Amino acid sequence: MTNTYKHDALIIGGGAAGLSLALRLADSCSIAILNKPSNPTGNTYFAQGGISSVMREKDTFASHINDTLIAGAQLCDLEAVTFTVEHGPENIRWLQDLGVPFNTEIFTSGKRELHLTREGGHSQRRVVHAADATGKALSMTLENHAREHSNITFYENHIAIDLITSAKLDTKPAQNNNDTNTCLGAYIFNNKTRHVEIFQSRYIILATGGASKVYLYTTNPDGSTGDGIAMAWRAGCRVSNMEFNQFHPTCLYHPEAKSFLISEAVRGEGGKLLLPDGQPFMHKFHPMAELAPRDIVARAIDHEMKRLGAPCVYLDISHRSTAFIASHFPTIYQRCLDYGIDMTKEPVPVVPAAHYTCGGVNTDLHGCTDIANLYAIGETACTGLHGANRMASNSLLECLVFAQSAAQHIQADLHHPYCYPYLPAWDESRVTDSDEEVVVSHNWDELRRFMWDYVGIVRTDKRLERAMHRASLLEHEIDDYYSNFRISPDLIELRNLRLVAELIIRSAMQRKESRGLHFSLDYPLADKDSAAKNTILNPARLSTDEKIKIIK
Ligand code: FAD
Ligand code: SIN
Repeated sequence: MTNTYKHDALIIGGGAAGLSLALRLADSCSIAILNKPSNPTGNTYFAQGGISSVMREKDTFASHINDTLIAGAQLCDLEAVTFTVEHGPENIRWLQDLGVPFNTEIFTSGKRELHLTREGGHSQRRVVHAADATGKALSMTLENHAREHSNITFYENHIAIDLITSAKLDTKPAQNNNDTNTCLGAYIFNNKTRHVEIFQSRYIILATGGASKVYLYTTNPDGSTGDGIAMAWRAGCRVSNMEFNQFHPTCLYHPEAKSFLISEAVRGEGGKLLLPDGQPFMHKFHPMAELAPRDIVARAIDHEMKRLGAPCVYLDISHRSTAFIASHFPTIYQRCLDYGIDMTKEPVPVVPAAHYTCGGVNTDLHGCTDIANLYAIGETACTGLHGANRMASNSLLECLVFAQSAAQHIQADLHHPYCYPYLPAWDESRVTDSDEEVVVSHNWDELRRFMWDYVGIVRTDKRLERAMHRASLLEHEIDDYYSNFRISPDLIELRNLRLVAELIIRSAMQRKESRGLHFSLDYPLADKDSAAKNTILNPARLSTDEKIKIIK
């Protein structure tokens, strides 16, 4: 007997996007929030620098919009950028009202205001932050409020496998009298009971975060496996701009540090990037030097490391006082000390690592996808805000603004009557327990390594072809395993990661120019900005052979 749960809204993911949406909606309807095993699993908790927003009179929306467009290499959607930027201040005030402990400072006038830091691409100080652990402060505050709300139920250790849609079942909710493909719920793996359950909902929201775990070296925690993107694609949604995976320039280089980020705010507060011989180099690459947009800094570091055969470069902020460093960057300072590096006295060794998925599930300004009643918000979505390269601290802002707007869209629809259709149980009749888990761990390692080697900061046609070949071979092996053996969290993630890898490679192969985060030695120049196009992949437009593979 399959357990079935019914909630008005099913939010898959409890990061900044999912939790904000839940809080915005909870007074109007019943909500389920799903999280993967072992909290914290998403990126939000680890966010450091902060949230960008125009908070001072001398800053303007026009300036924030312009900086975002420049960082995005002229591929951003102006409407999405304007919408996000203009909703920034009210979302920051909402967080302040909820009690997020942002840093403040007292002005000469005696007035207490938010302290604003600076990061790459921003022409102004406009990053609101809680020291260097903004994500922790944000998630703890949002989660505490959500856990206190009687309309919100948390389902921990529950992993969404696939969406249930009317097209897949050839059924539809009674009140839907047209042929629109509608999302009806999802199959969820309960990792405590090891059974698959059905969650039925009127509104299903993908807030599953990014996919940077597809790369061998990443700043992301283990759960960032692109599950929402993969589920949406399998259900029939368009996915865009997947070639633009952002590499953060400064991840701590230390054998024991599992991809620990050194915030861009360190450069915002005067940190200099140095070669192993102590020479600065960023001025050779961009007039904004250390504060150039992230794609440019990461590529410059990659270039210098390859040129010199150096394993890392260095980030030096030791010219600032110990008191300043310890108060602005307490987490980073302590973590570096744990590894024997005193950043008040010496430079910190750093390397680039995969950090952020700029592409994702296509949405409009309300987070609506191509499927009725299915929304995507946060890092899993592609709203048009980031274009070819996200500007620092615009991501948390996007999570908040699109959660607010999706909540408004859902609220406006709630008065319509809804009747839950019958959904079939998960079919486990033809599978057995796996006898070779090594297949999963081997393929997981292989995938992440070839993505790093062939689809990284610098690409070529040949490398992309090699990567596509590897991805196709893995597809057969993973599909075979998926069809014959009982499902597990690792298998769910591996299947999604492989698909996301394929979407990244496919998108990169389509772009015959270098723009933003996509740099190809075969096409080193950008097309005219006026000719810049998004890479939109549509599962409905693949060839029959390719479609058969997806439906399987
Ligand atoms: P996440 O916070 O990643 O949450 C995803 C949620 O989905 C998790 O709860 C996870 O358990 C759940 N989930 C995933 N798959 C499934 C599934 N199949 N079933 C059930 N649940 C699932 N951005 C900024 O703007 N400012 C910063 O300072 C900043 N610093 C960063 C520092 C680091 C180290 C990293 C990694 C990122 C940083 N970013 C920053 C980016 C930003 O943190 C993320 O883009 C943002 O937090 C994403 O939020 P989200 O809600 O979309 O997803
Ligand atoms: C950082 O603090 O450097 C991360 C900021 C971001 O990814 O937006």
